[in-house]
Amino acid sequence: MKVTVGVCGGIAAYKAAELVRALQRQALDVHVVMTEAAREFIQPLTFASLTGHKVITGLWSSGSAESNLDSAIQHISESQWADVLVVAPATANVLAKFAHGIADDFLSTMYLAITAPVVVAPAMNVNMWQHPATHANLETLKNRGVQVVDPKSGYLACGMVGDGRMAEPELIVERVLLVLNHRNDLAGEVVLVTAGGTREAVDPVRFLGNRSSGKMGYAIAEAAQSRGARVILVTGPTVLHPPANCEVIPVVTADEMRSAVLGRLDEASIVIKAAAVADYRPVVRSEQKLKRSGPITLELVPTEDILAEVVRLRRPETLVVGFAAETENVLVHGRDKLLRKGADAIVLNDVGRPGVGFDSDRNAATFLTVQTAIEFPEMAKRDLAERILDETLALRRPLSVITETSPHVAQRD
Ligand code: CTP
Repeated sequence: MKVTVGVCGGIAAYKAAELVRALQRQALDVHVVMTEAAREFIQPLTFASLTGHKVITGLWSSGSAESNLDSAIQHISESQWADVLVVAPATANVLAKFAHGIADDFLSTMYLAITAPVVVAPAMNVNMWQHPATHANLETLKNRGVQVVDPKSGYLACGMVGDGRMAEPELIVERVLLVLNHRNDLAGEVVLVTAGGTREAVDPVRFLGNRSSGKMGYAIAEAAQSRGARVILVTGPTVLHPPANCEVIPVVTADEMRSAVLGRLDEASIVIKAAAVADYRPVVRSEQKLKRSGPITLELVPTEDILAEVVRLRRPETLVVGFAAETENVLVHGRDKLLRKGADAIVLNDVGRPGVGFDSDRNAATFLTVQTAIEFPEMAKRDLAERILDETLALRRPLSVITETSPHVAQRD
C-alpha cells in the first residue's frame, strides 16, 4: 500500500520523519510532499534519505519546459498513486486551504485531485486551534470524510500550554491503518449509542454528575459510522465534537436520556450503552440556590435503569451491549450486572486502573457474555471501539463458529 505524507510548516515537522519511519515499519511505501514553509523547519534531504524517493517540494521545477510539463501533471499522478494522503503536521493554513478549495501549491492542489482517503493531524498554537475559523474548517473537512487525528494537550513551542501538540506518530499510523483496512461491515445497521455522563440538578447551579468524558461512546459512534452504520448518538453534556454525519440527540438528565433512547429504540439494530447514567436523583430540585447553613441531607431516589428497559422492550433481533464501570471484584460484579440486566454483552471497565478509563484516551476492558470473557489489553479508545464492534457483530454468529472462546477466557489482541 502507498502513502503520501504531506508535511507543513510547523515545529512538529521534525515528527514527520518519525511518522515516515513508523509507516515504513508497516510495510507501506511512502512519498513525501513538503510545503515551502515546511522546508524552513526540516530539509527535504531528510525525507529523501528515509524514503528513497525524491521529495516533492513545488508545482514547478526550475528546469526546462519539458520538466515543467512533467511537474505540471505530477499532482495528478501523485494523487492517483497514493492509497491515502496523510498531512502531518497540518497547519491552520493548510486546513483552511483544504476546506475552501484553494490550490496554490503542490499539497493543496493534490488534495483537490485525490479521491483516496485523507487523514490530517493538526498541530498549532492553542488559540489558533480553538479559533472558530479552525473549528469551522475542520467541520467542513470532517463532513467530507477527512479523518482528523486530534492534537494533544501539553507544552507548545510558543510557550503556551493547551491543545495543539501534534498527535504521536503511532496514533497517526493507527488511524492510517484503520483507513486502509476500511470495512463496510455495518452497512444497513442502525447503531444507537449513548455516551457521556448525565446530570441531576440539586438547585439551579448545582448537579450530581460523574467523571465520564464521553470519549468511549464517541469513539464507538465514530467507528460505527465509518463502518457504514447509520448512527444515533444520545449524549450527555461533553466538550467533544460529535463525529460528522451522525444524528446527535443531546440530553442532560437520566430521564431525558431514557426518553431519547426508548423513543428511537424501534429503529435500532444494535444498542451500545456507553453512557454513565446517574443512579440517583434528588427527590426535590430546589427552585432557588441552596444557601450554606451547616450540614444538609439530600434525599435521593433511584433513576430508571434504561439498559434493563431497553433489554425488555427491544425487538428480538436487536443486539444490546451495556457497559459496567467497576472498582473492585470486577469480574464478579460484571457477571452479576450482565445477568441482572439481561444484555447480550457487557463491556467491563476496571476504572480503578491508573492511566485508563475516565477522561483518558486509552482504555482496557473485558467483553463479557454469558459464555465468554474476551480480554482487550490497553489500547486507544478508538481502537477499542473497533474491537467492541467486532465482538458485537460476532454475537450474531452461531457460537460454534467462534473458535477462540474456549475454554472460558479468550485473549484477542
Ligand atoms: N445504566 C442505565 N441506566 C441507569 C444506570 C445505568 O442504562 N440508570 C446502564 C449504563 O449505561 C451502563 C450499565 O447500565 O451501560 C451499567 O452501568 P453502571 O453504572 O456500571 O451500573 P449500575 O446499574 O448503575 O450499577 P452499580 O452502580 O450498582 O454498579
